[in-house]
Amino acid sequence: MEIAICFTVLLFVCANGQVLSTNENEAVQFLSKYDATVANMWNGDVLASWNYYTNITAENLEVMTNSSLLLSEFDKELAANATKMFDWTNFNSTNKRQFEKIVDIGFAATNDTEQLKRKNTLEAELTEIYSTGEVCLSDDRCLQLEPGLTNVITNSRNYNELLEVWKGWRDASGKNMRSKYTEFVDVMNKAIRFSNFNDTGEYWRSWYETPTFEEDVRSLFTELDPLYKELHAYVRKRLMQKYGKELFPTSGHIPAHLFGNMWAQQWSNIYDLLVPYPDAISVNITQKMIDKNYDVIKMYRVAEDFFSSIGMDNMTQEFWNNSMLIKPEGRDVVCHASAWDFYNGRDFR
Ligand SMILES: *[C@@H]1O[C@H](CO)[C@@H](O)[C@H](O)[C@H]1NC(C)=O
Ligand SMILES: *[C@@H]1O[C@H](CO)[C@@H](O)[C@H](O)[C@H]1NC(C)=O
Ligand SMILES: *[C@@H]1O[C@H](CO)[C@@H](O)[C@H](O)[C@H]1NC(C)=O
Ligand SMILES: *[C@@H]1O[C@H](CO)[C@@H](O)[C@H](O)[C@H]1NC(C)=O
Ligand SMILES: *[C@@H]1O[C@H](CO)[C@@H](O)[C@H](O)[C@H]1NC(C)=O
Ligand SMILES: *[C@@H]1O[C@H](CO)[C@@H](O)[C@H](O)[C@H]1NC(C)=O
Ligand SMILES: *[C@@H]1O[C@H](CO)[C@@H](O)[C@H](O)[C@H]1NC(C)=O
Ligand SMILES: *[C@@H]1O[C@H](CO)[C@@H](O)[C@H](O)[C@H]1NC(C)=O
Ligand SMILES: *[C@@H]1O[C@H](CO)[C@@H](O)[C@H](O)[C@H]1NC(C)=O
Repeated sequence: MEIAICFTVLLFVCANGQVLSTNENEAVQFLSKYDATVANMWNGDVLASWNYYTNITAENLEVMTNSSLLLSEFDKELAANATKMFDWTNFNSTNKRQFEKIVDIGFAATNDTEQLKRKNTLEAELTEIYSTGEVCLSDDRCLQLEPGLTNVITNSRNYNELLEVWKGWRDASGKNMRSKYTEFVDVMNKAIRFSNFNDTGEYWRSWYETPTFEEDVRSLFTELDPLYKELHAYVRKRLMQKYGKELFPTSGHIPAHLFGNMWAQQWSNIYDLLVPYPDAISVNITQKMIDKNYDVIKMYRVAEDFFSSIGMDNMTQEFWNNSMLIKPEGRDVVCHASAWDFYNGRDFR
């Protein structure tokens, strides 16, 4: 056996004759060089995405798509280089994990670049539908998700108006996304098999780096379930009092458009309908904030104060200069809140 013959302290020869180094110092140098190169590549790529997400145009989409393909090729080549050069089985856990990350190239492992292109195009088209979709409540009142529809869902207490907005948004987004999304899933699942995952769900779950991820989540859910059920029953009772029992299904569900949030994921906007102890001190600080001239920037500054008070760093000047904190006029953007790392240690938006 070749393996047995060529085994030495530092070198390991695979069955196919490639020499794999087990020299950890060399590997650390490789990692440090990798770190610099890859940060630079990612910086360019994130910048291209940012330009598209904050300014949705066909041209910016093309630049983003090209950049993403370039990055995929780069990732693939680097992963191949790492695999050809090192056997990291016995490296310390930090270094070993870094190599495992380098070779985890996800969708880029596919043998078919057209698949990657299609995935990127579909992702952009889906984003665009979601970001530019409109609901017309009357001939001259057409609203996008942010801020228009969100305002209605947050503030309206009219069952039918809420229903119209909720359903209108699903028609404008989900209905138009459905066939593209189905293809998106299919394309991703085909590509991810080259990374030895059964499907994209399995790949995404791998990011949590625990073999018991599903059990962990299930057990957290089981723990939370009794409290959730009580809260749900309480909220249902109050909403029934407000809107009328007859508008609620016998299954026990609460119609999703009544929670003050487009995805029924956060219920604080309907607190006024749910106040359990009306005589207790109010926690509504809106008027105080208005009195103190709060604006968007000031809210971010206060958040920064809070996080630095618990020992975290201040935001960088780049954050204040480059972020999109307010929806701009005159162009389409993705206005859904998100946090961005530009991989240079300074630029965060
Ligand atoms: C938006 O992108 C276009 C290129 O498609 C560019 O010409 C325009 O200047 C950009 N707008 C802003 C505000 O950056
Ligand atoms: C994107 O890549 C295609 C194919 O390589 C090329 O023809 C096109 O000019 C590129 N577009 C941009 C905006 O760089
Ligand atoms: C992979 O290794 C080859 C040969 O050493 C080198 O030319 C190439 O630049 C490396 N690729 C990357 C992405 O580092
Ligand atoms: C592994 O080695 C690197 C340097 O090669 C060091 O920075 C790191 O702290 C070590 N990790 C562990 C878990 O010992
Ligand atoms: C890519 O891989 C698939 C599945 O393994 C194979 O059927 C196909 O021929 C390959 N395509 C190319 C271009 O190599
Ligand atoms: C992937 O599919 C194989 C074959 O169906 C199955 O044995 C394996 O458990 C699956 N892996 C995971 C993580 O679900
Ligand atoms: C909070 O106070 C503001 C201003 O006083 C008021 O418009 C808003 O309805 C109140 N919100 C809730 C949830 O009570
Ligand atoms: C953060 O910024 C504030 C003022 O902007 C300053 O007083 C504080 O010292 C800074 N904190 C850190 C950790 O740099
Ligand atoms: C932030 O913007 C100011 C004013 O335009 C400029 O002077 C400063 O150099 C910028 N700083 C960074 C880090 O971009």
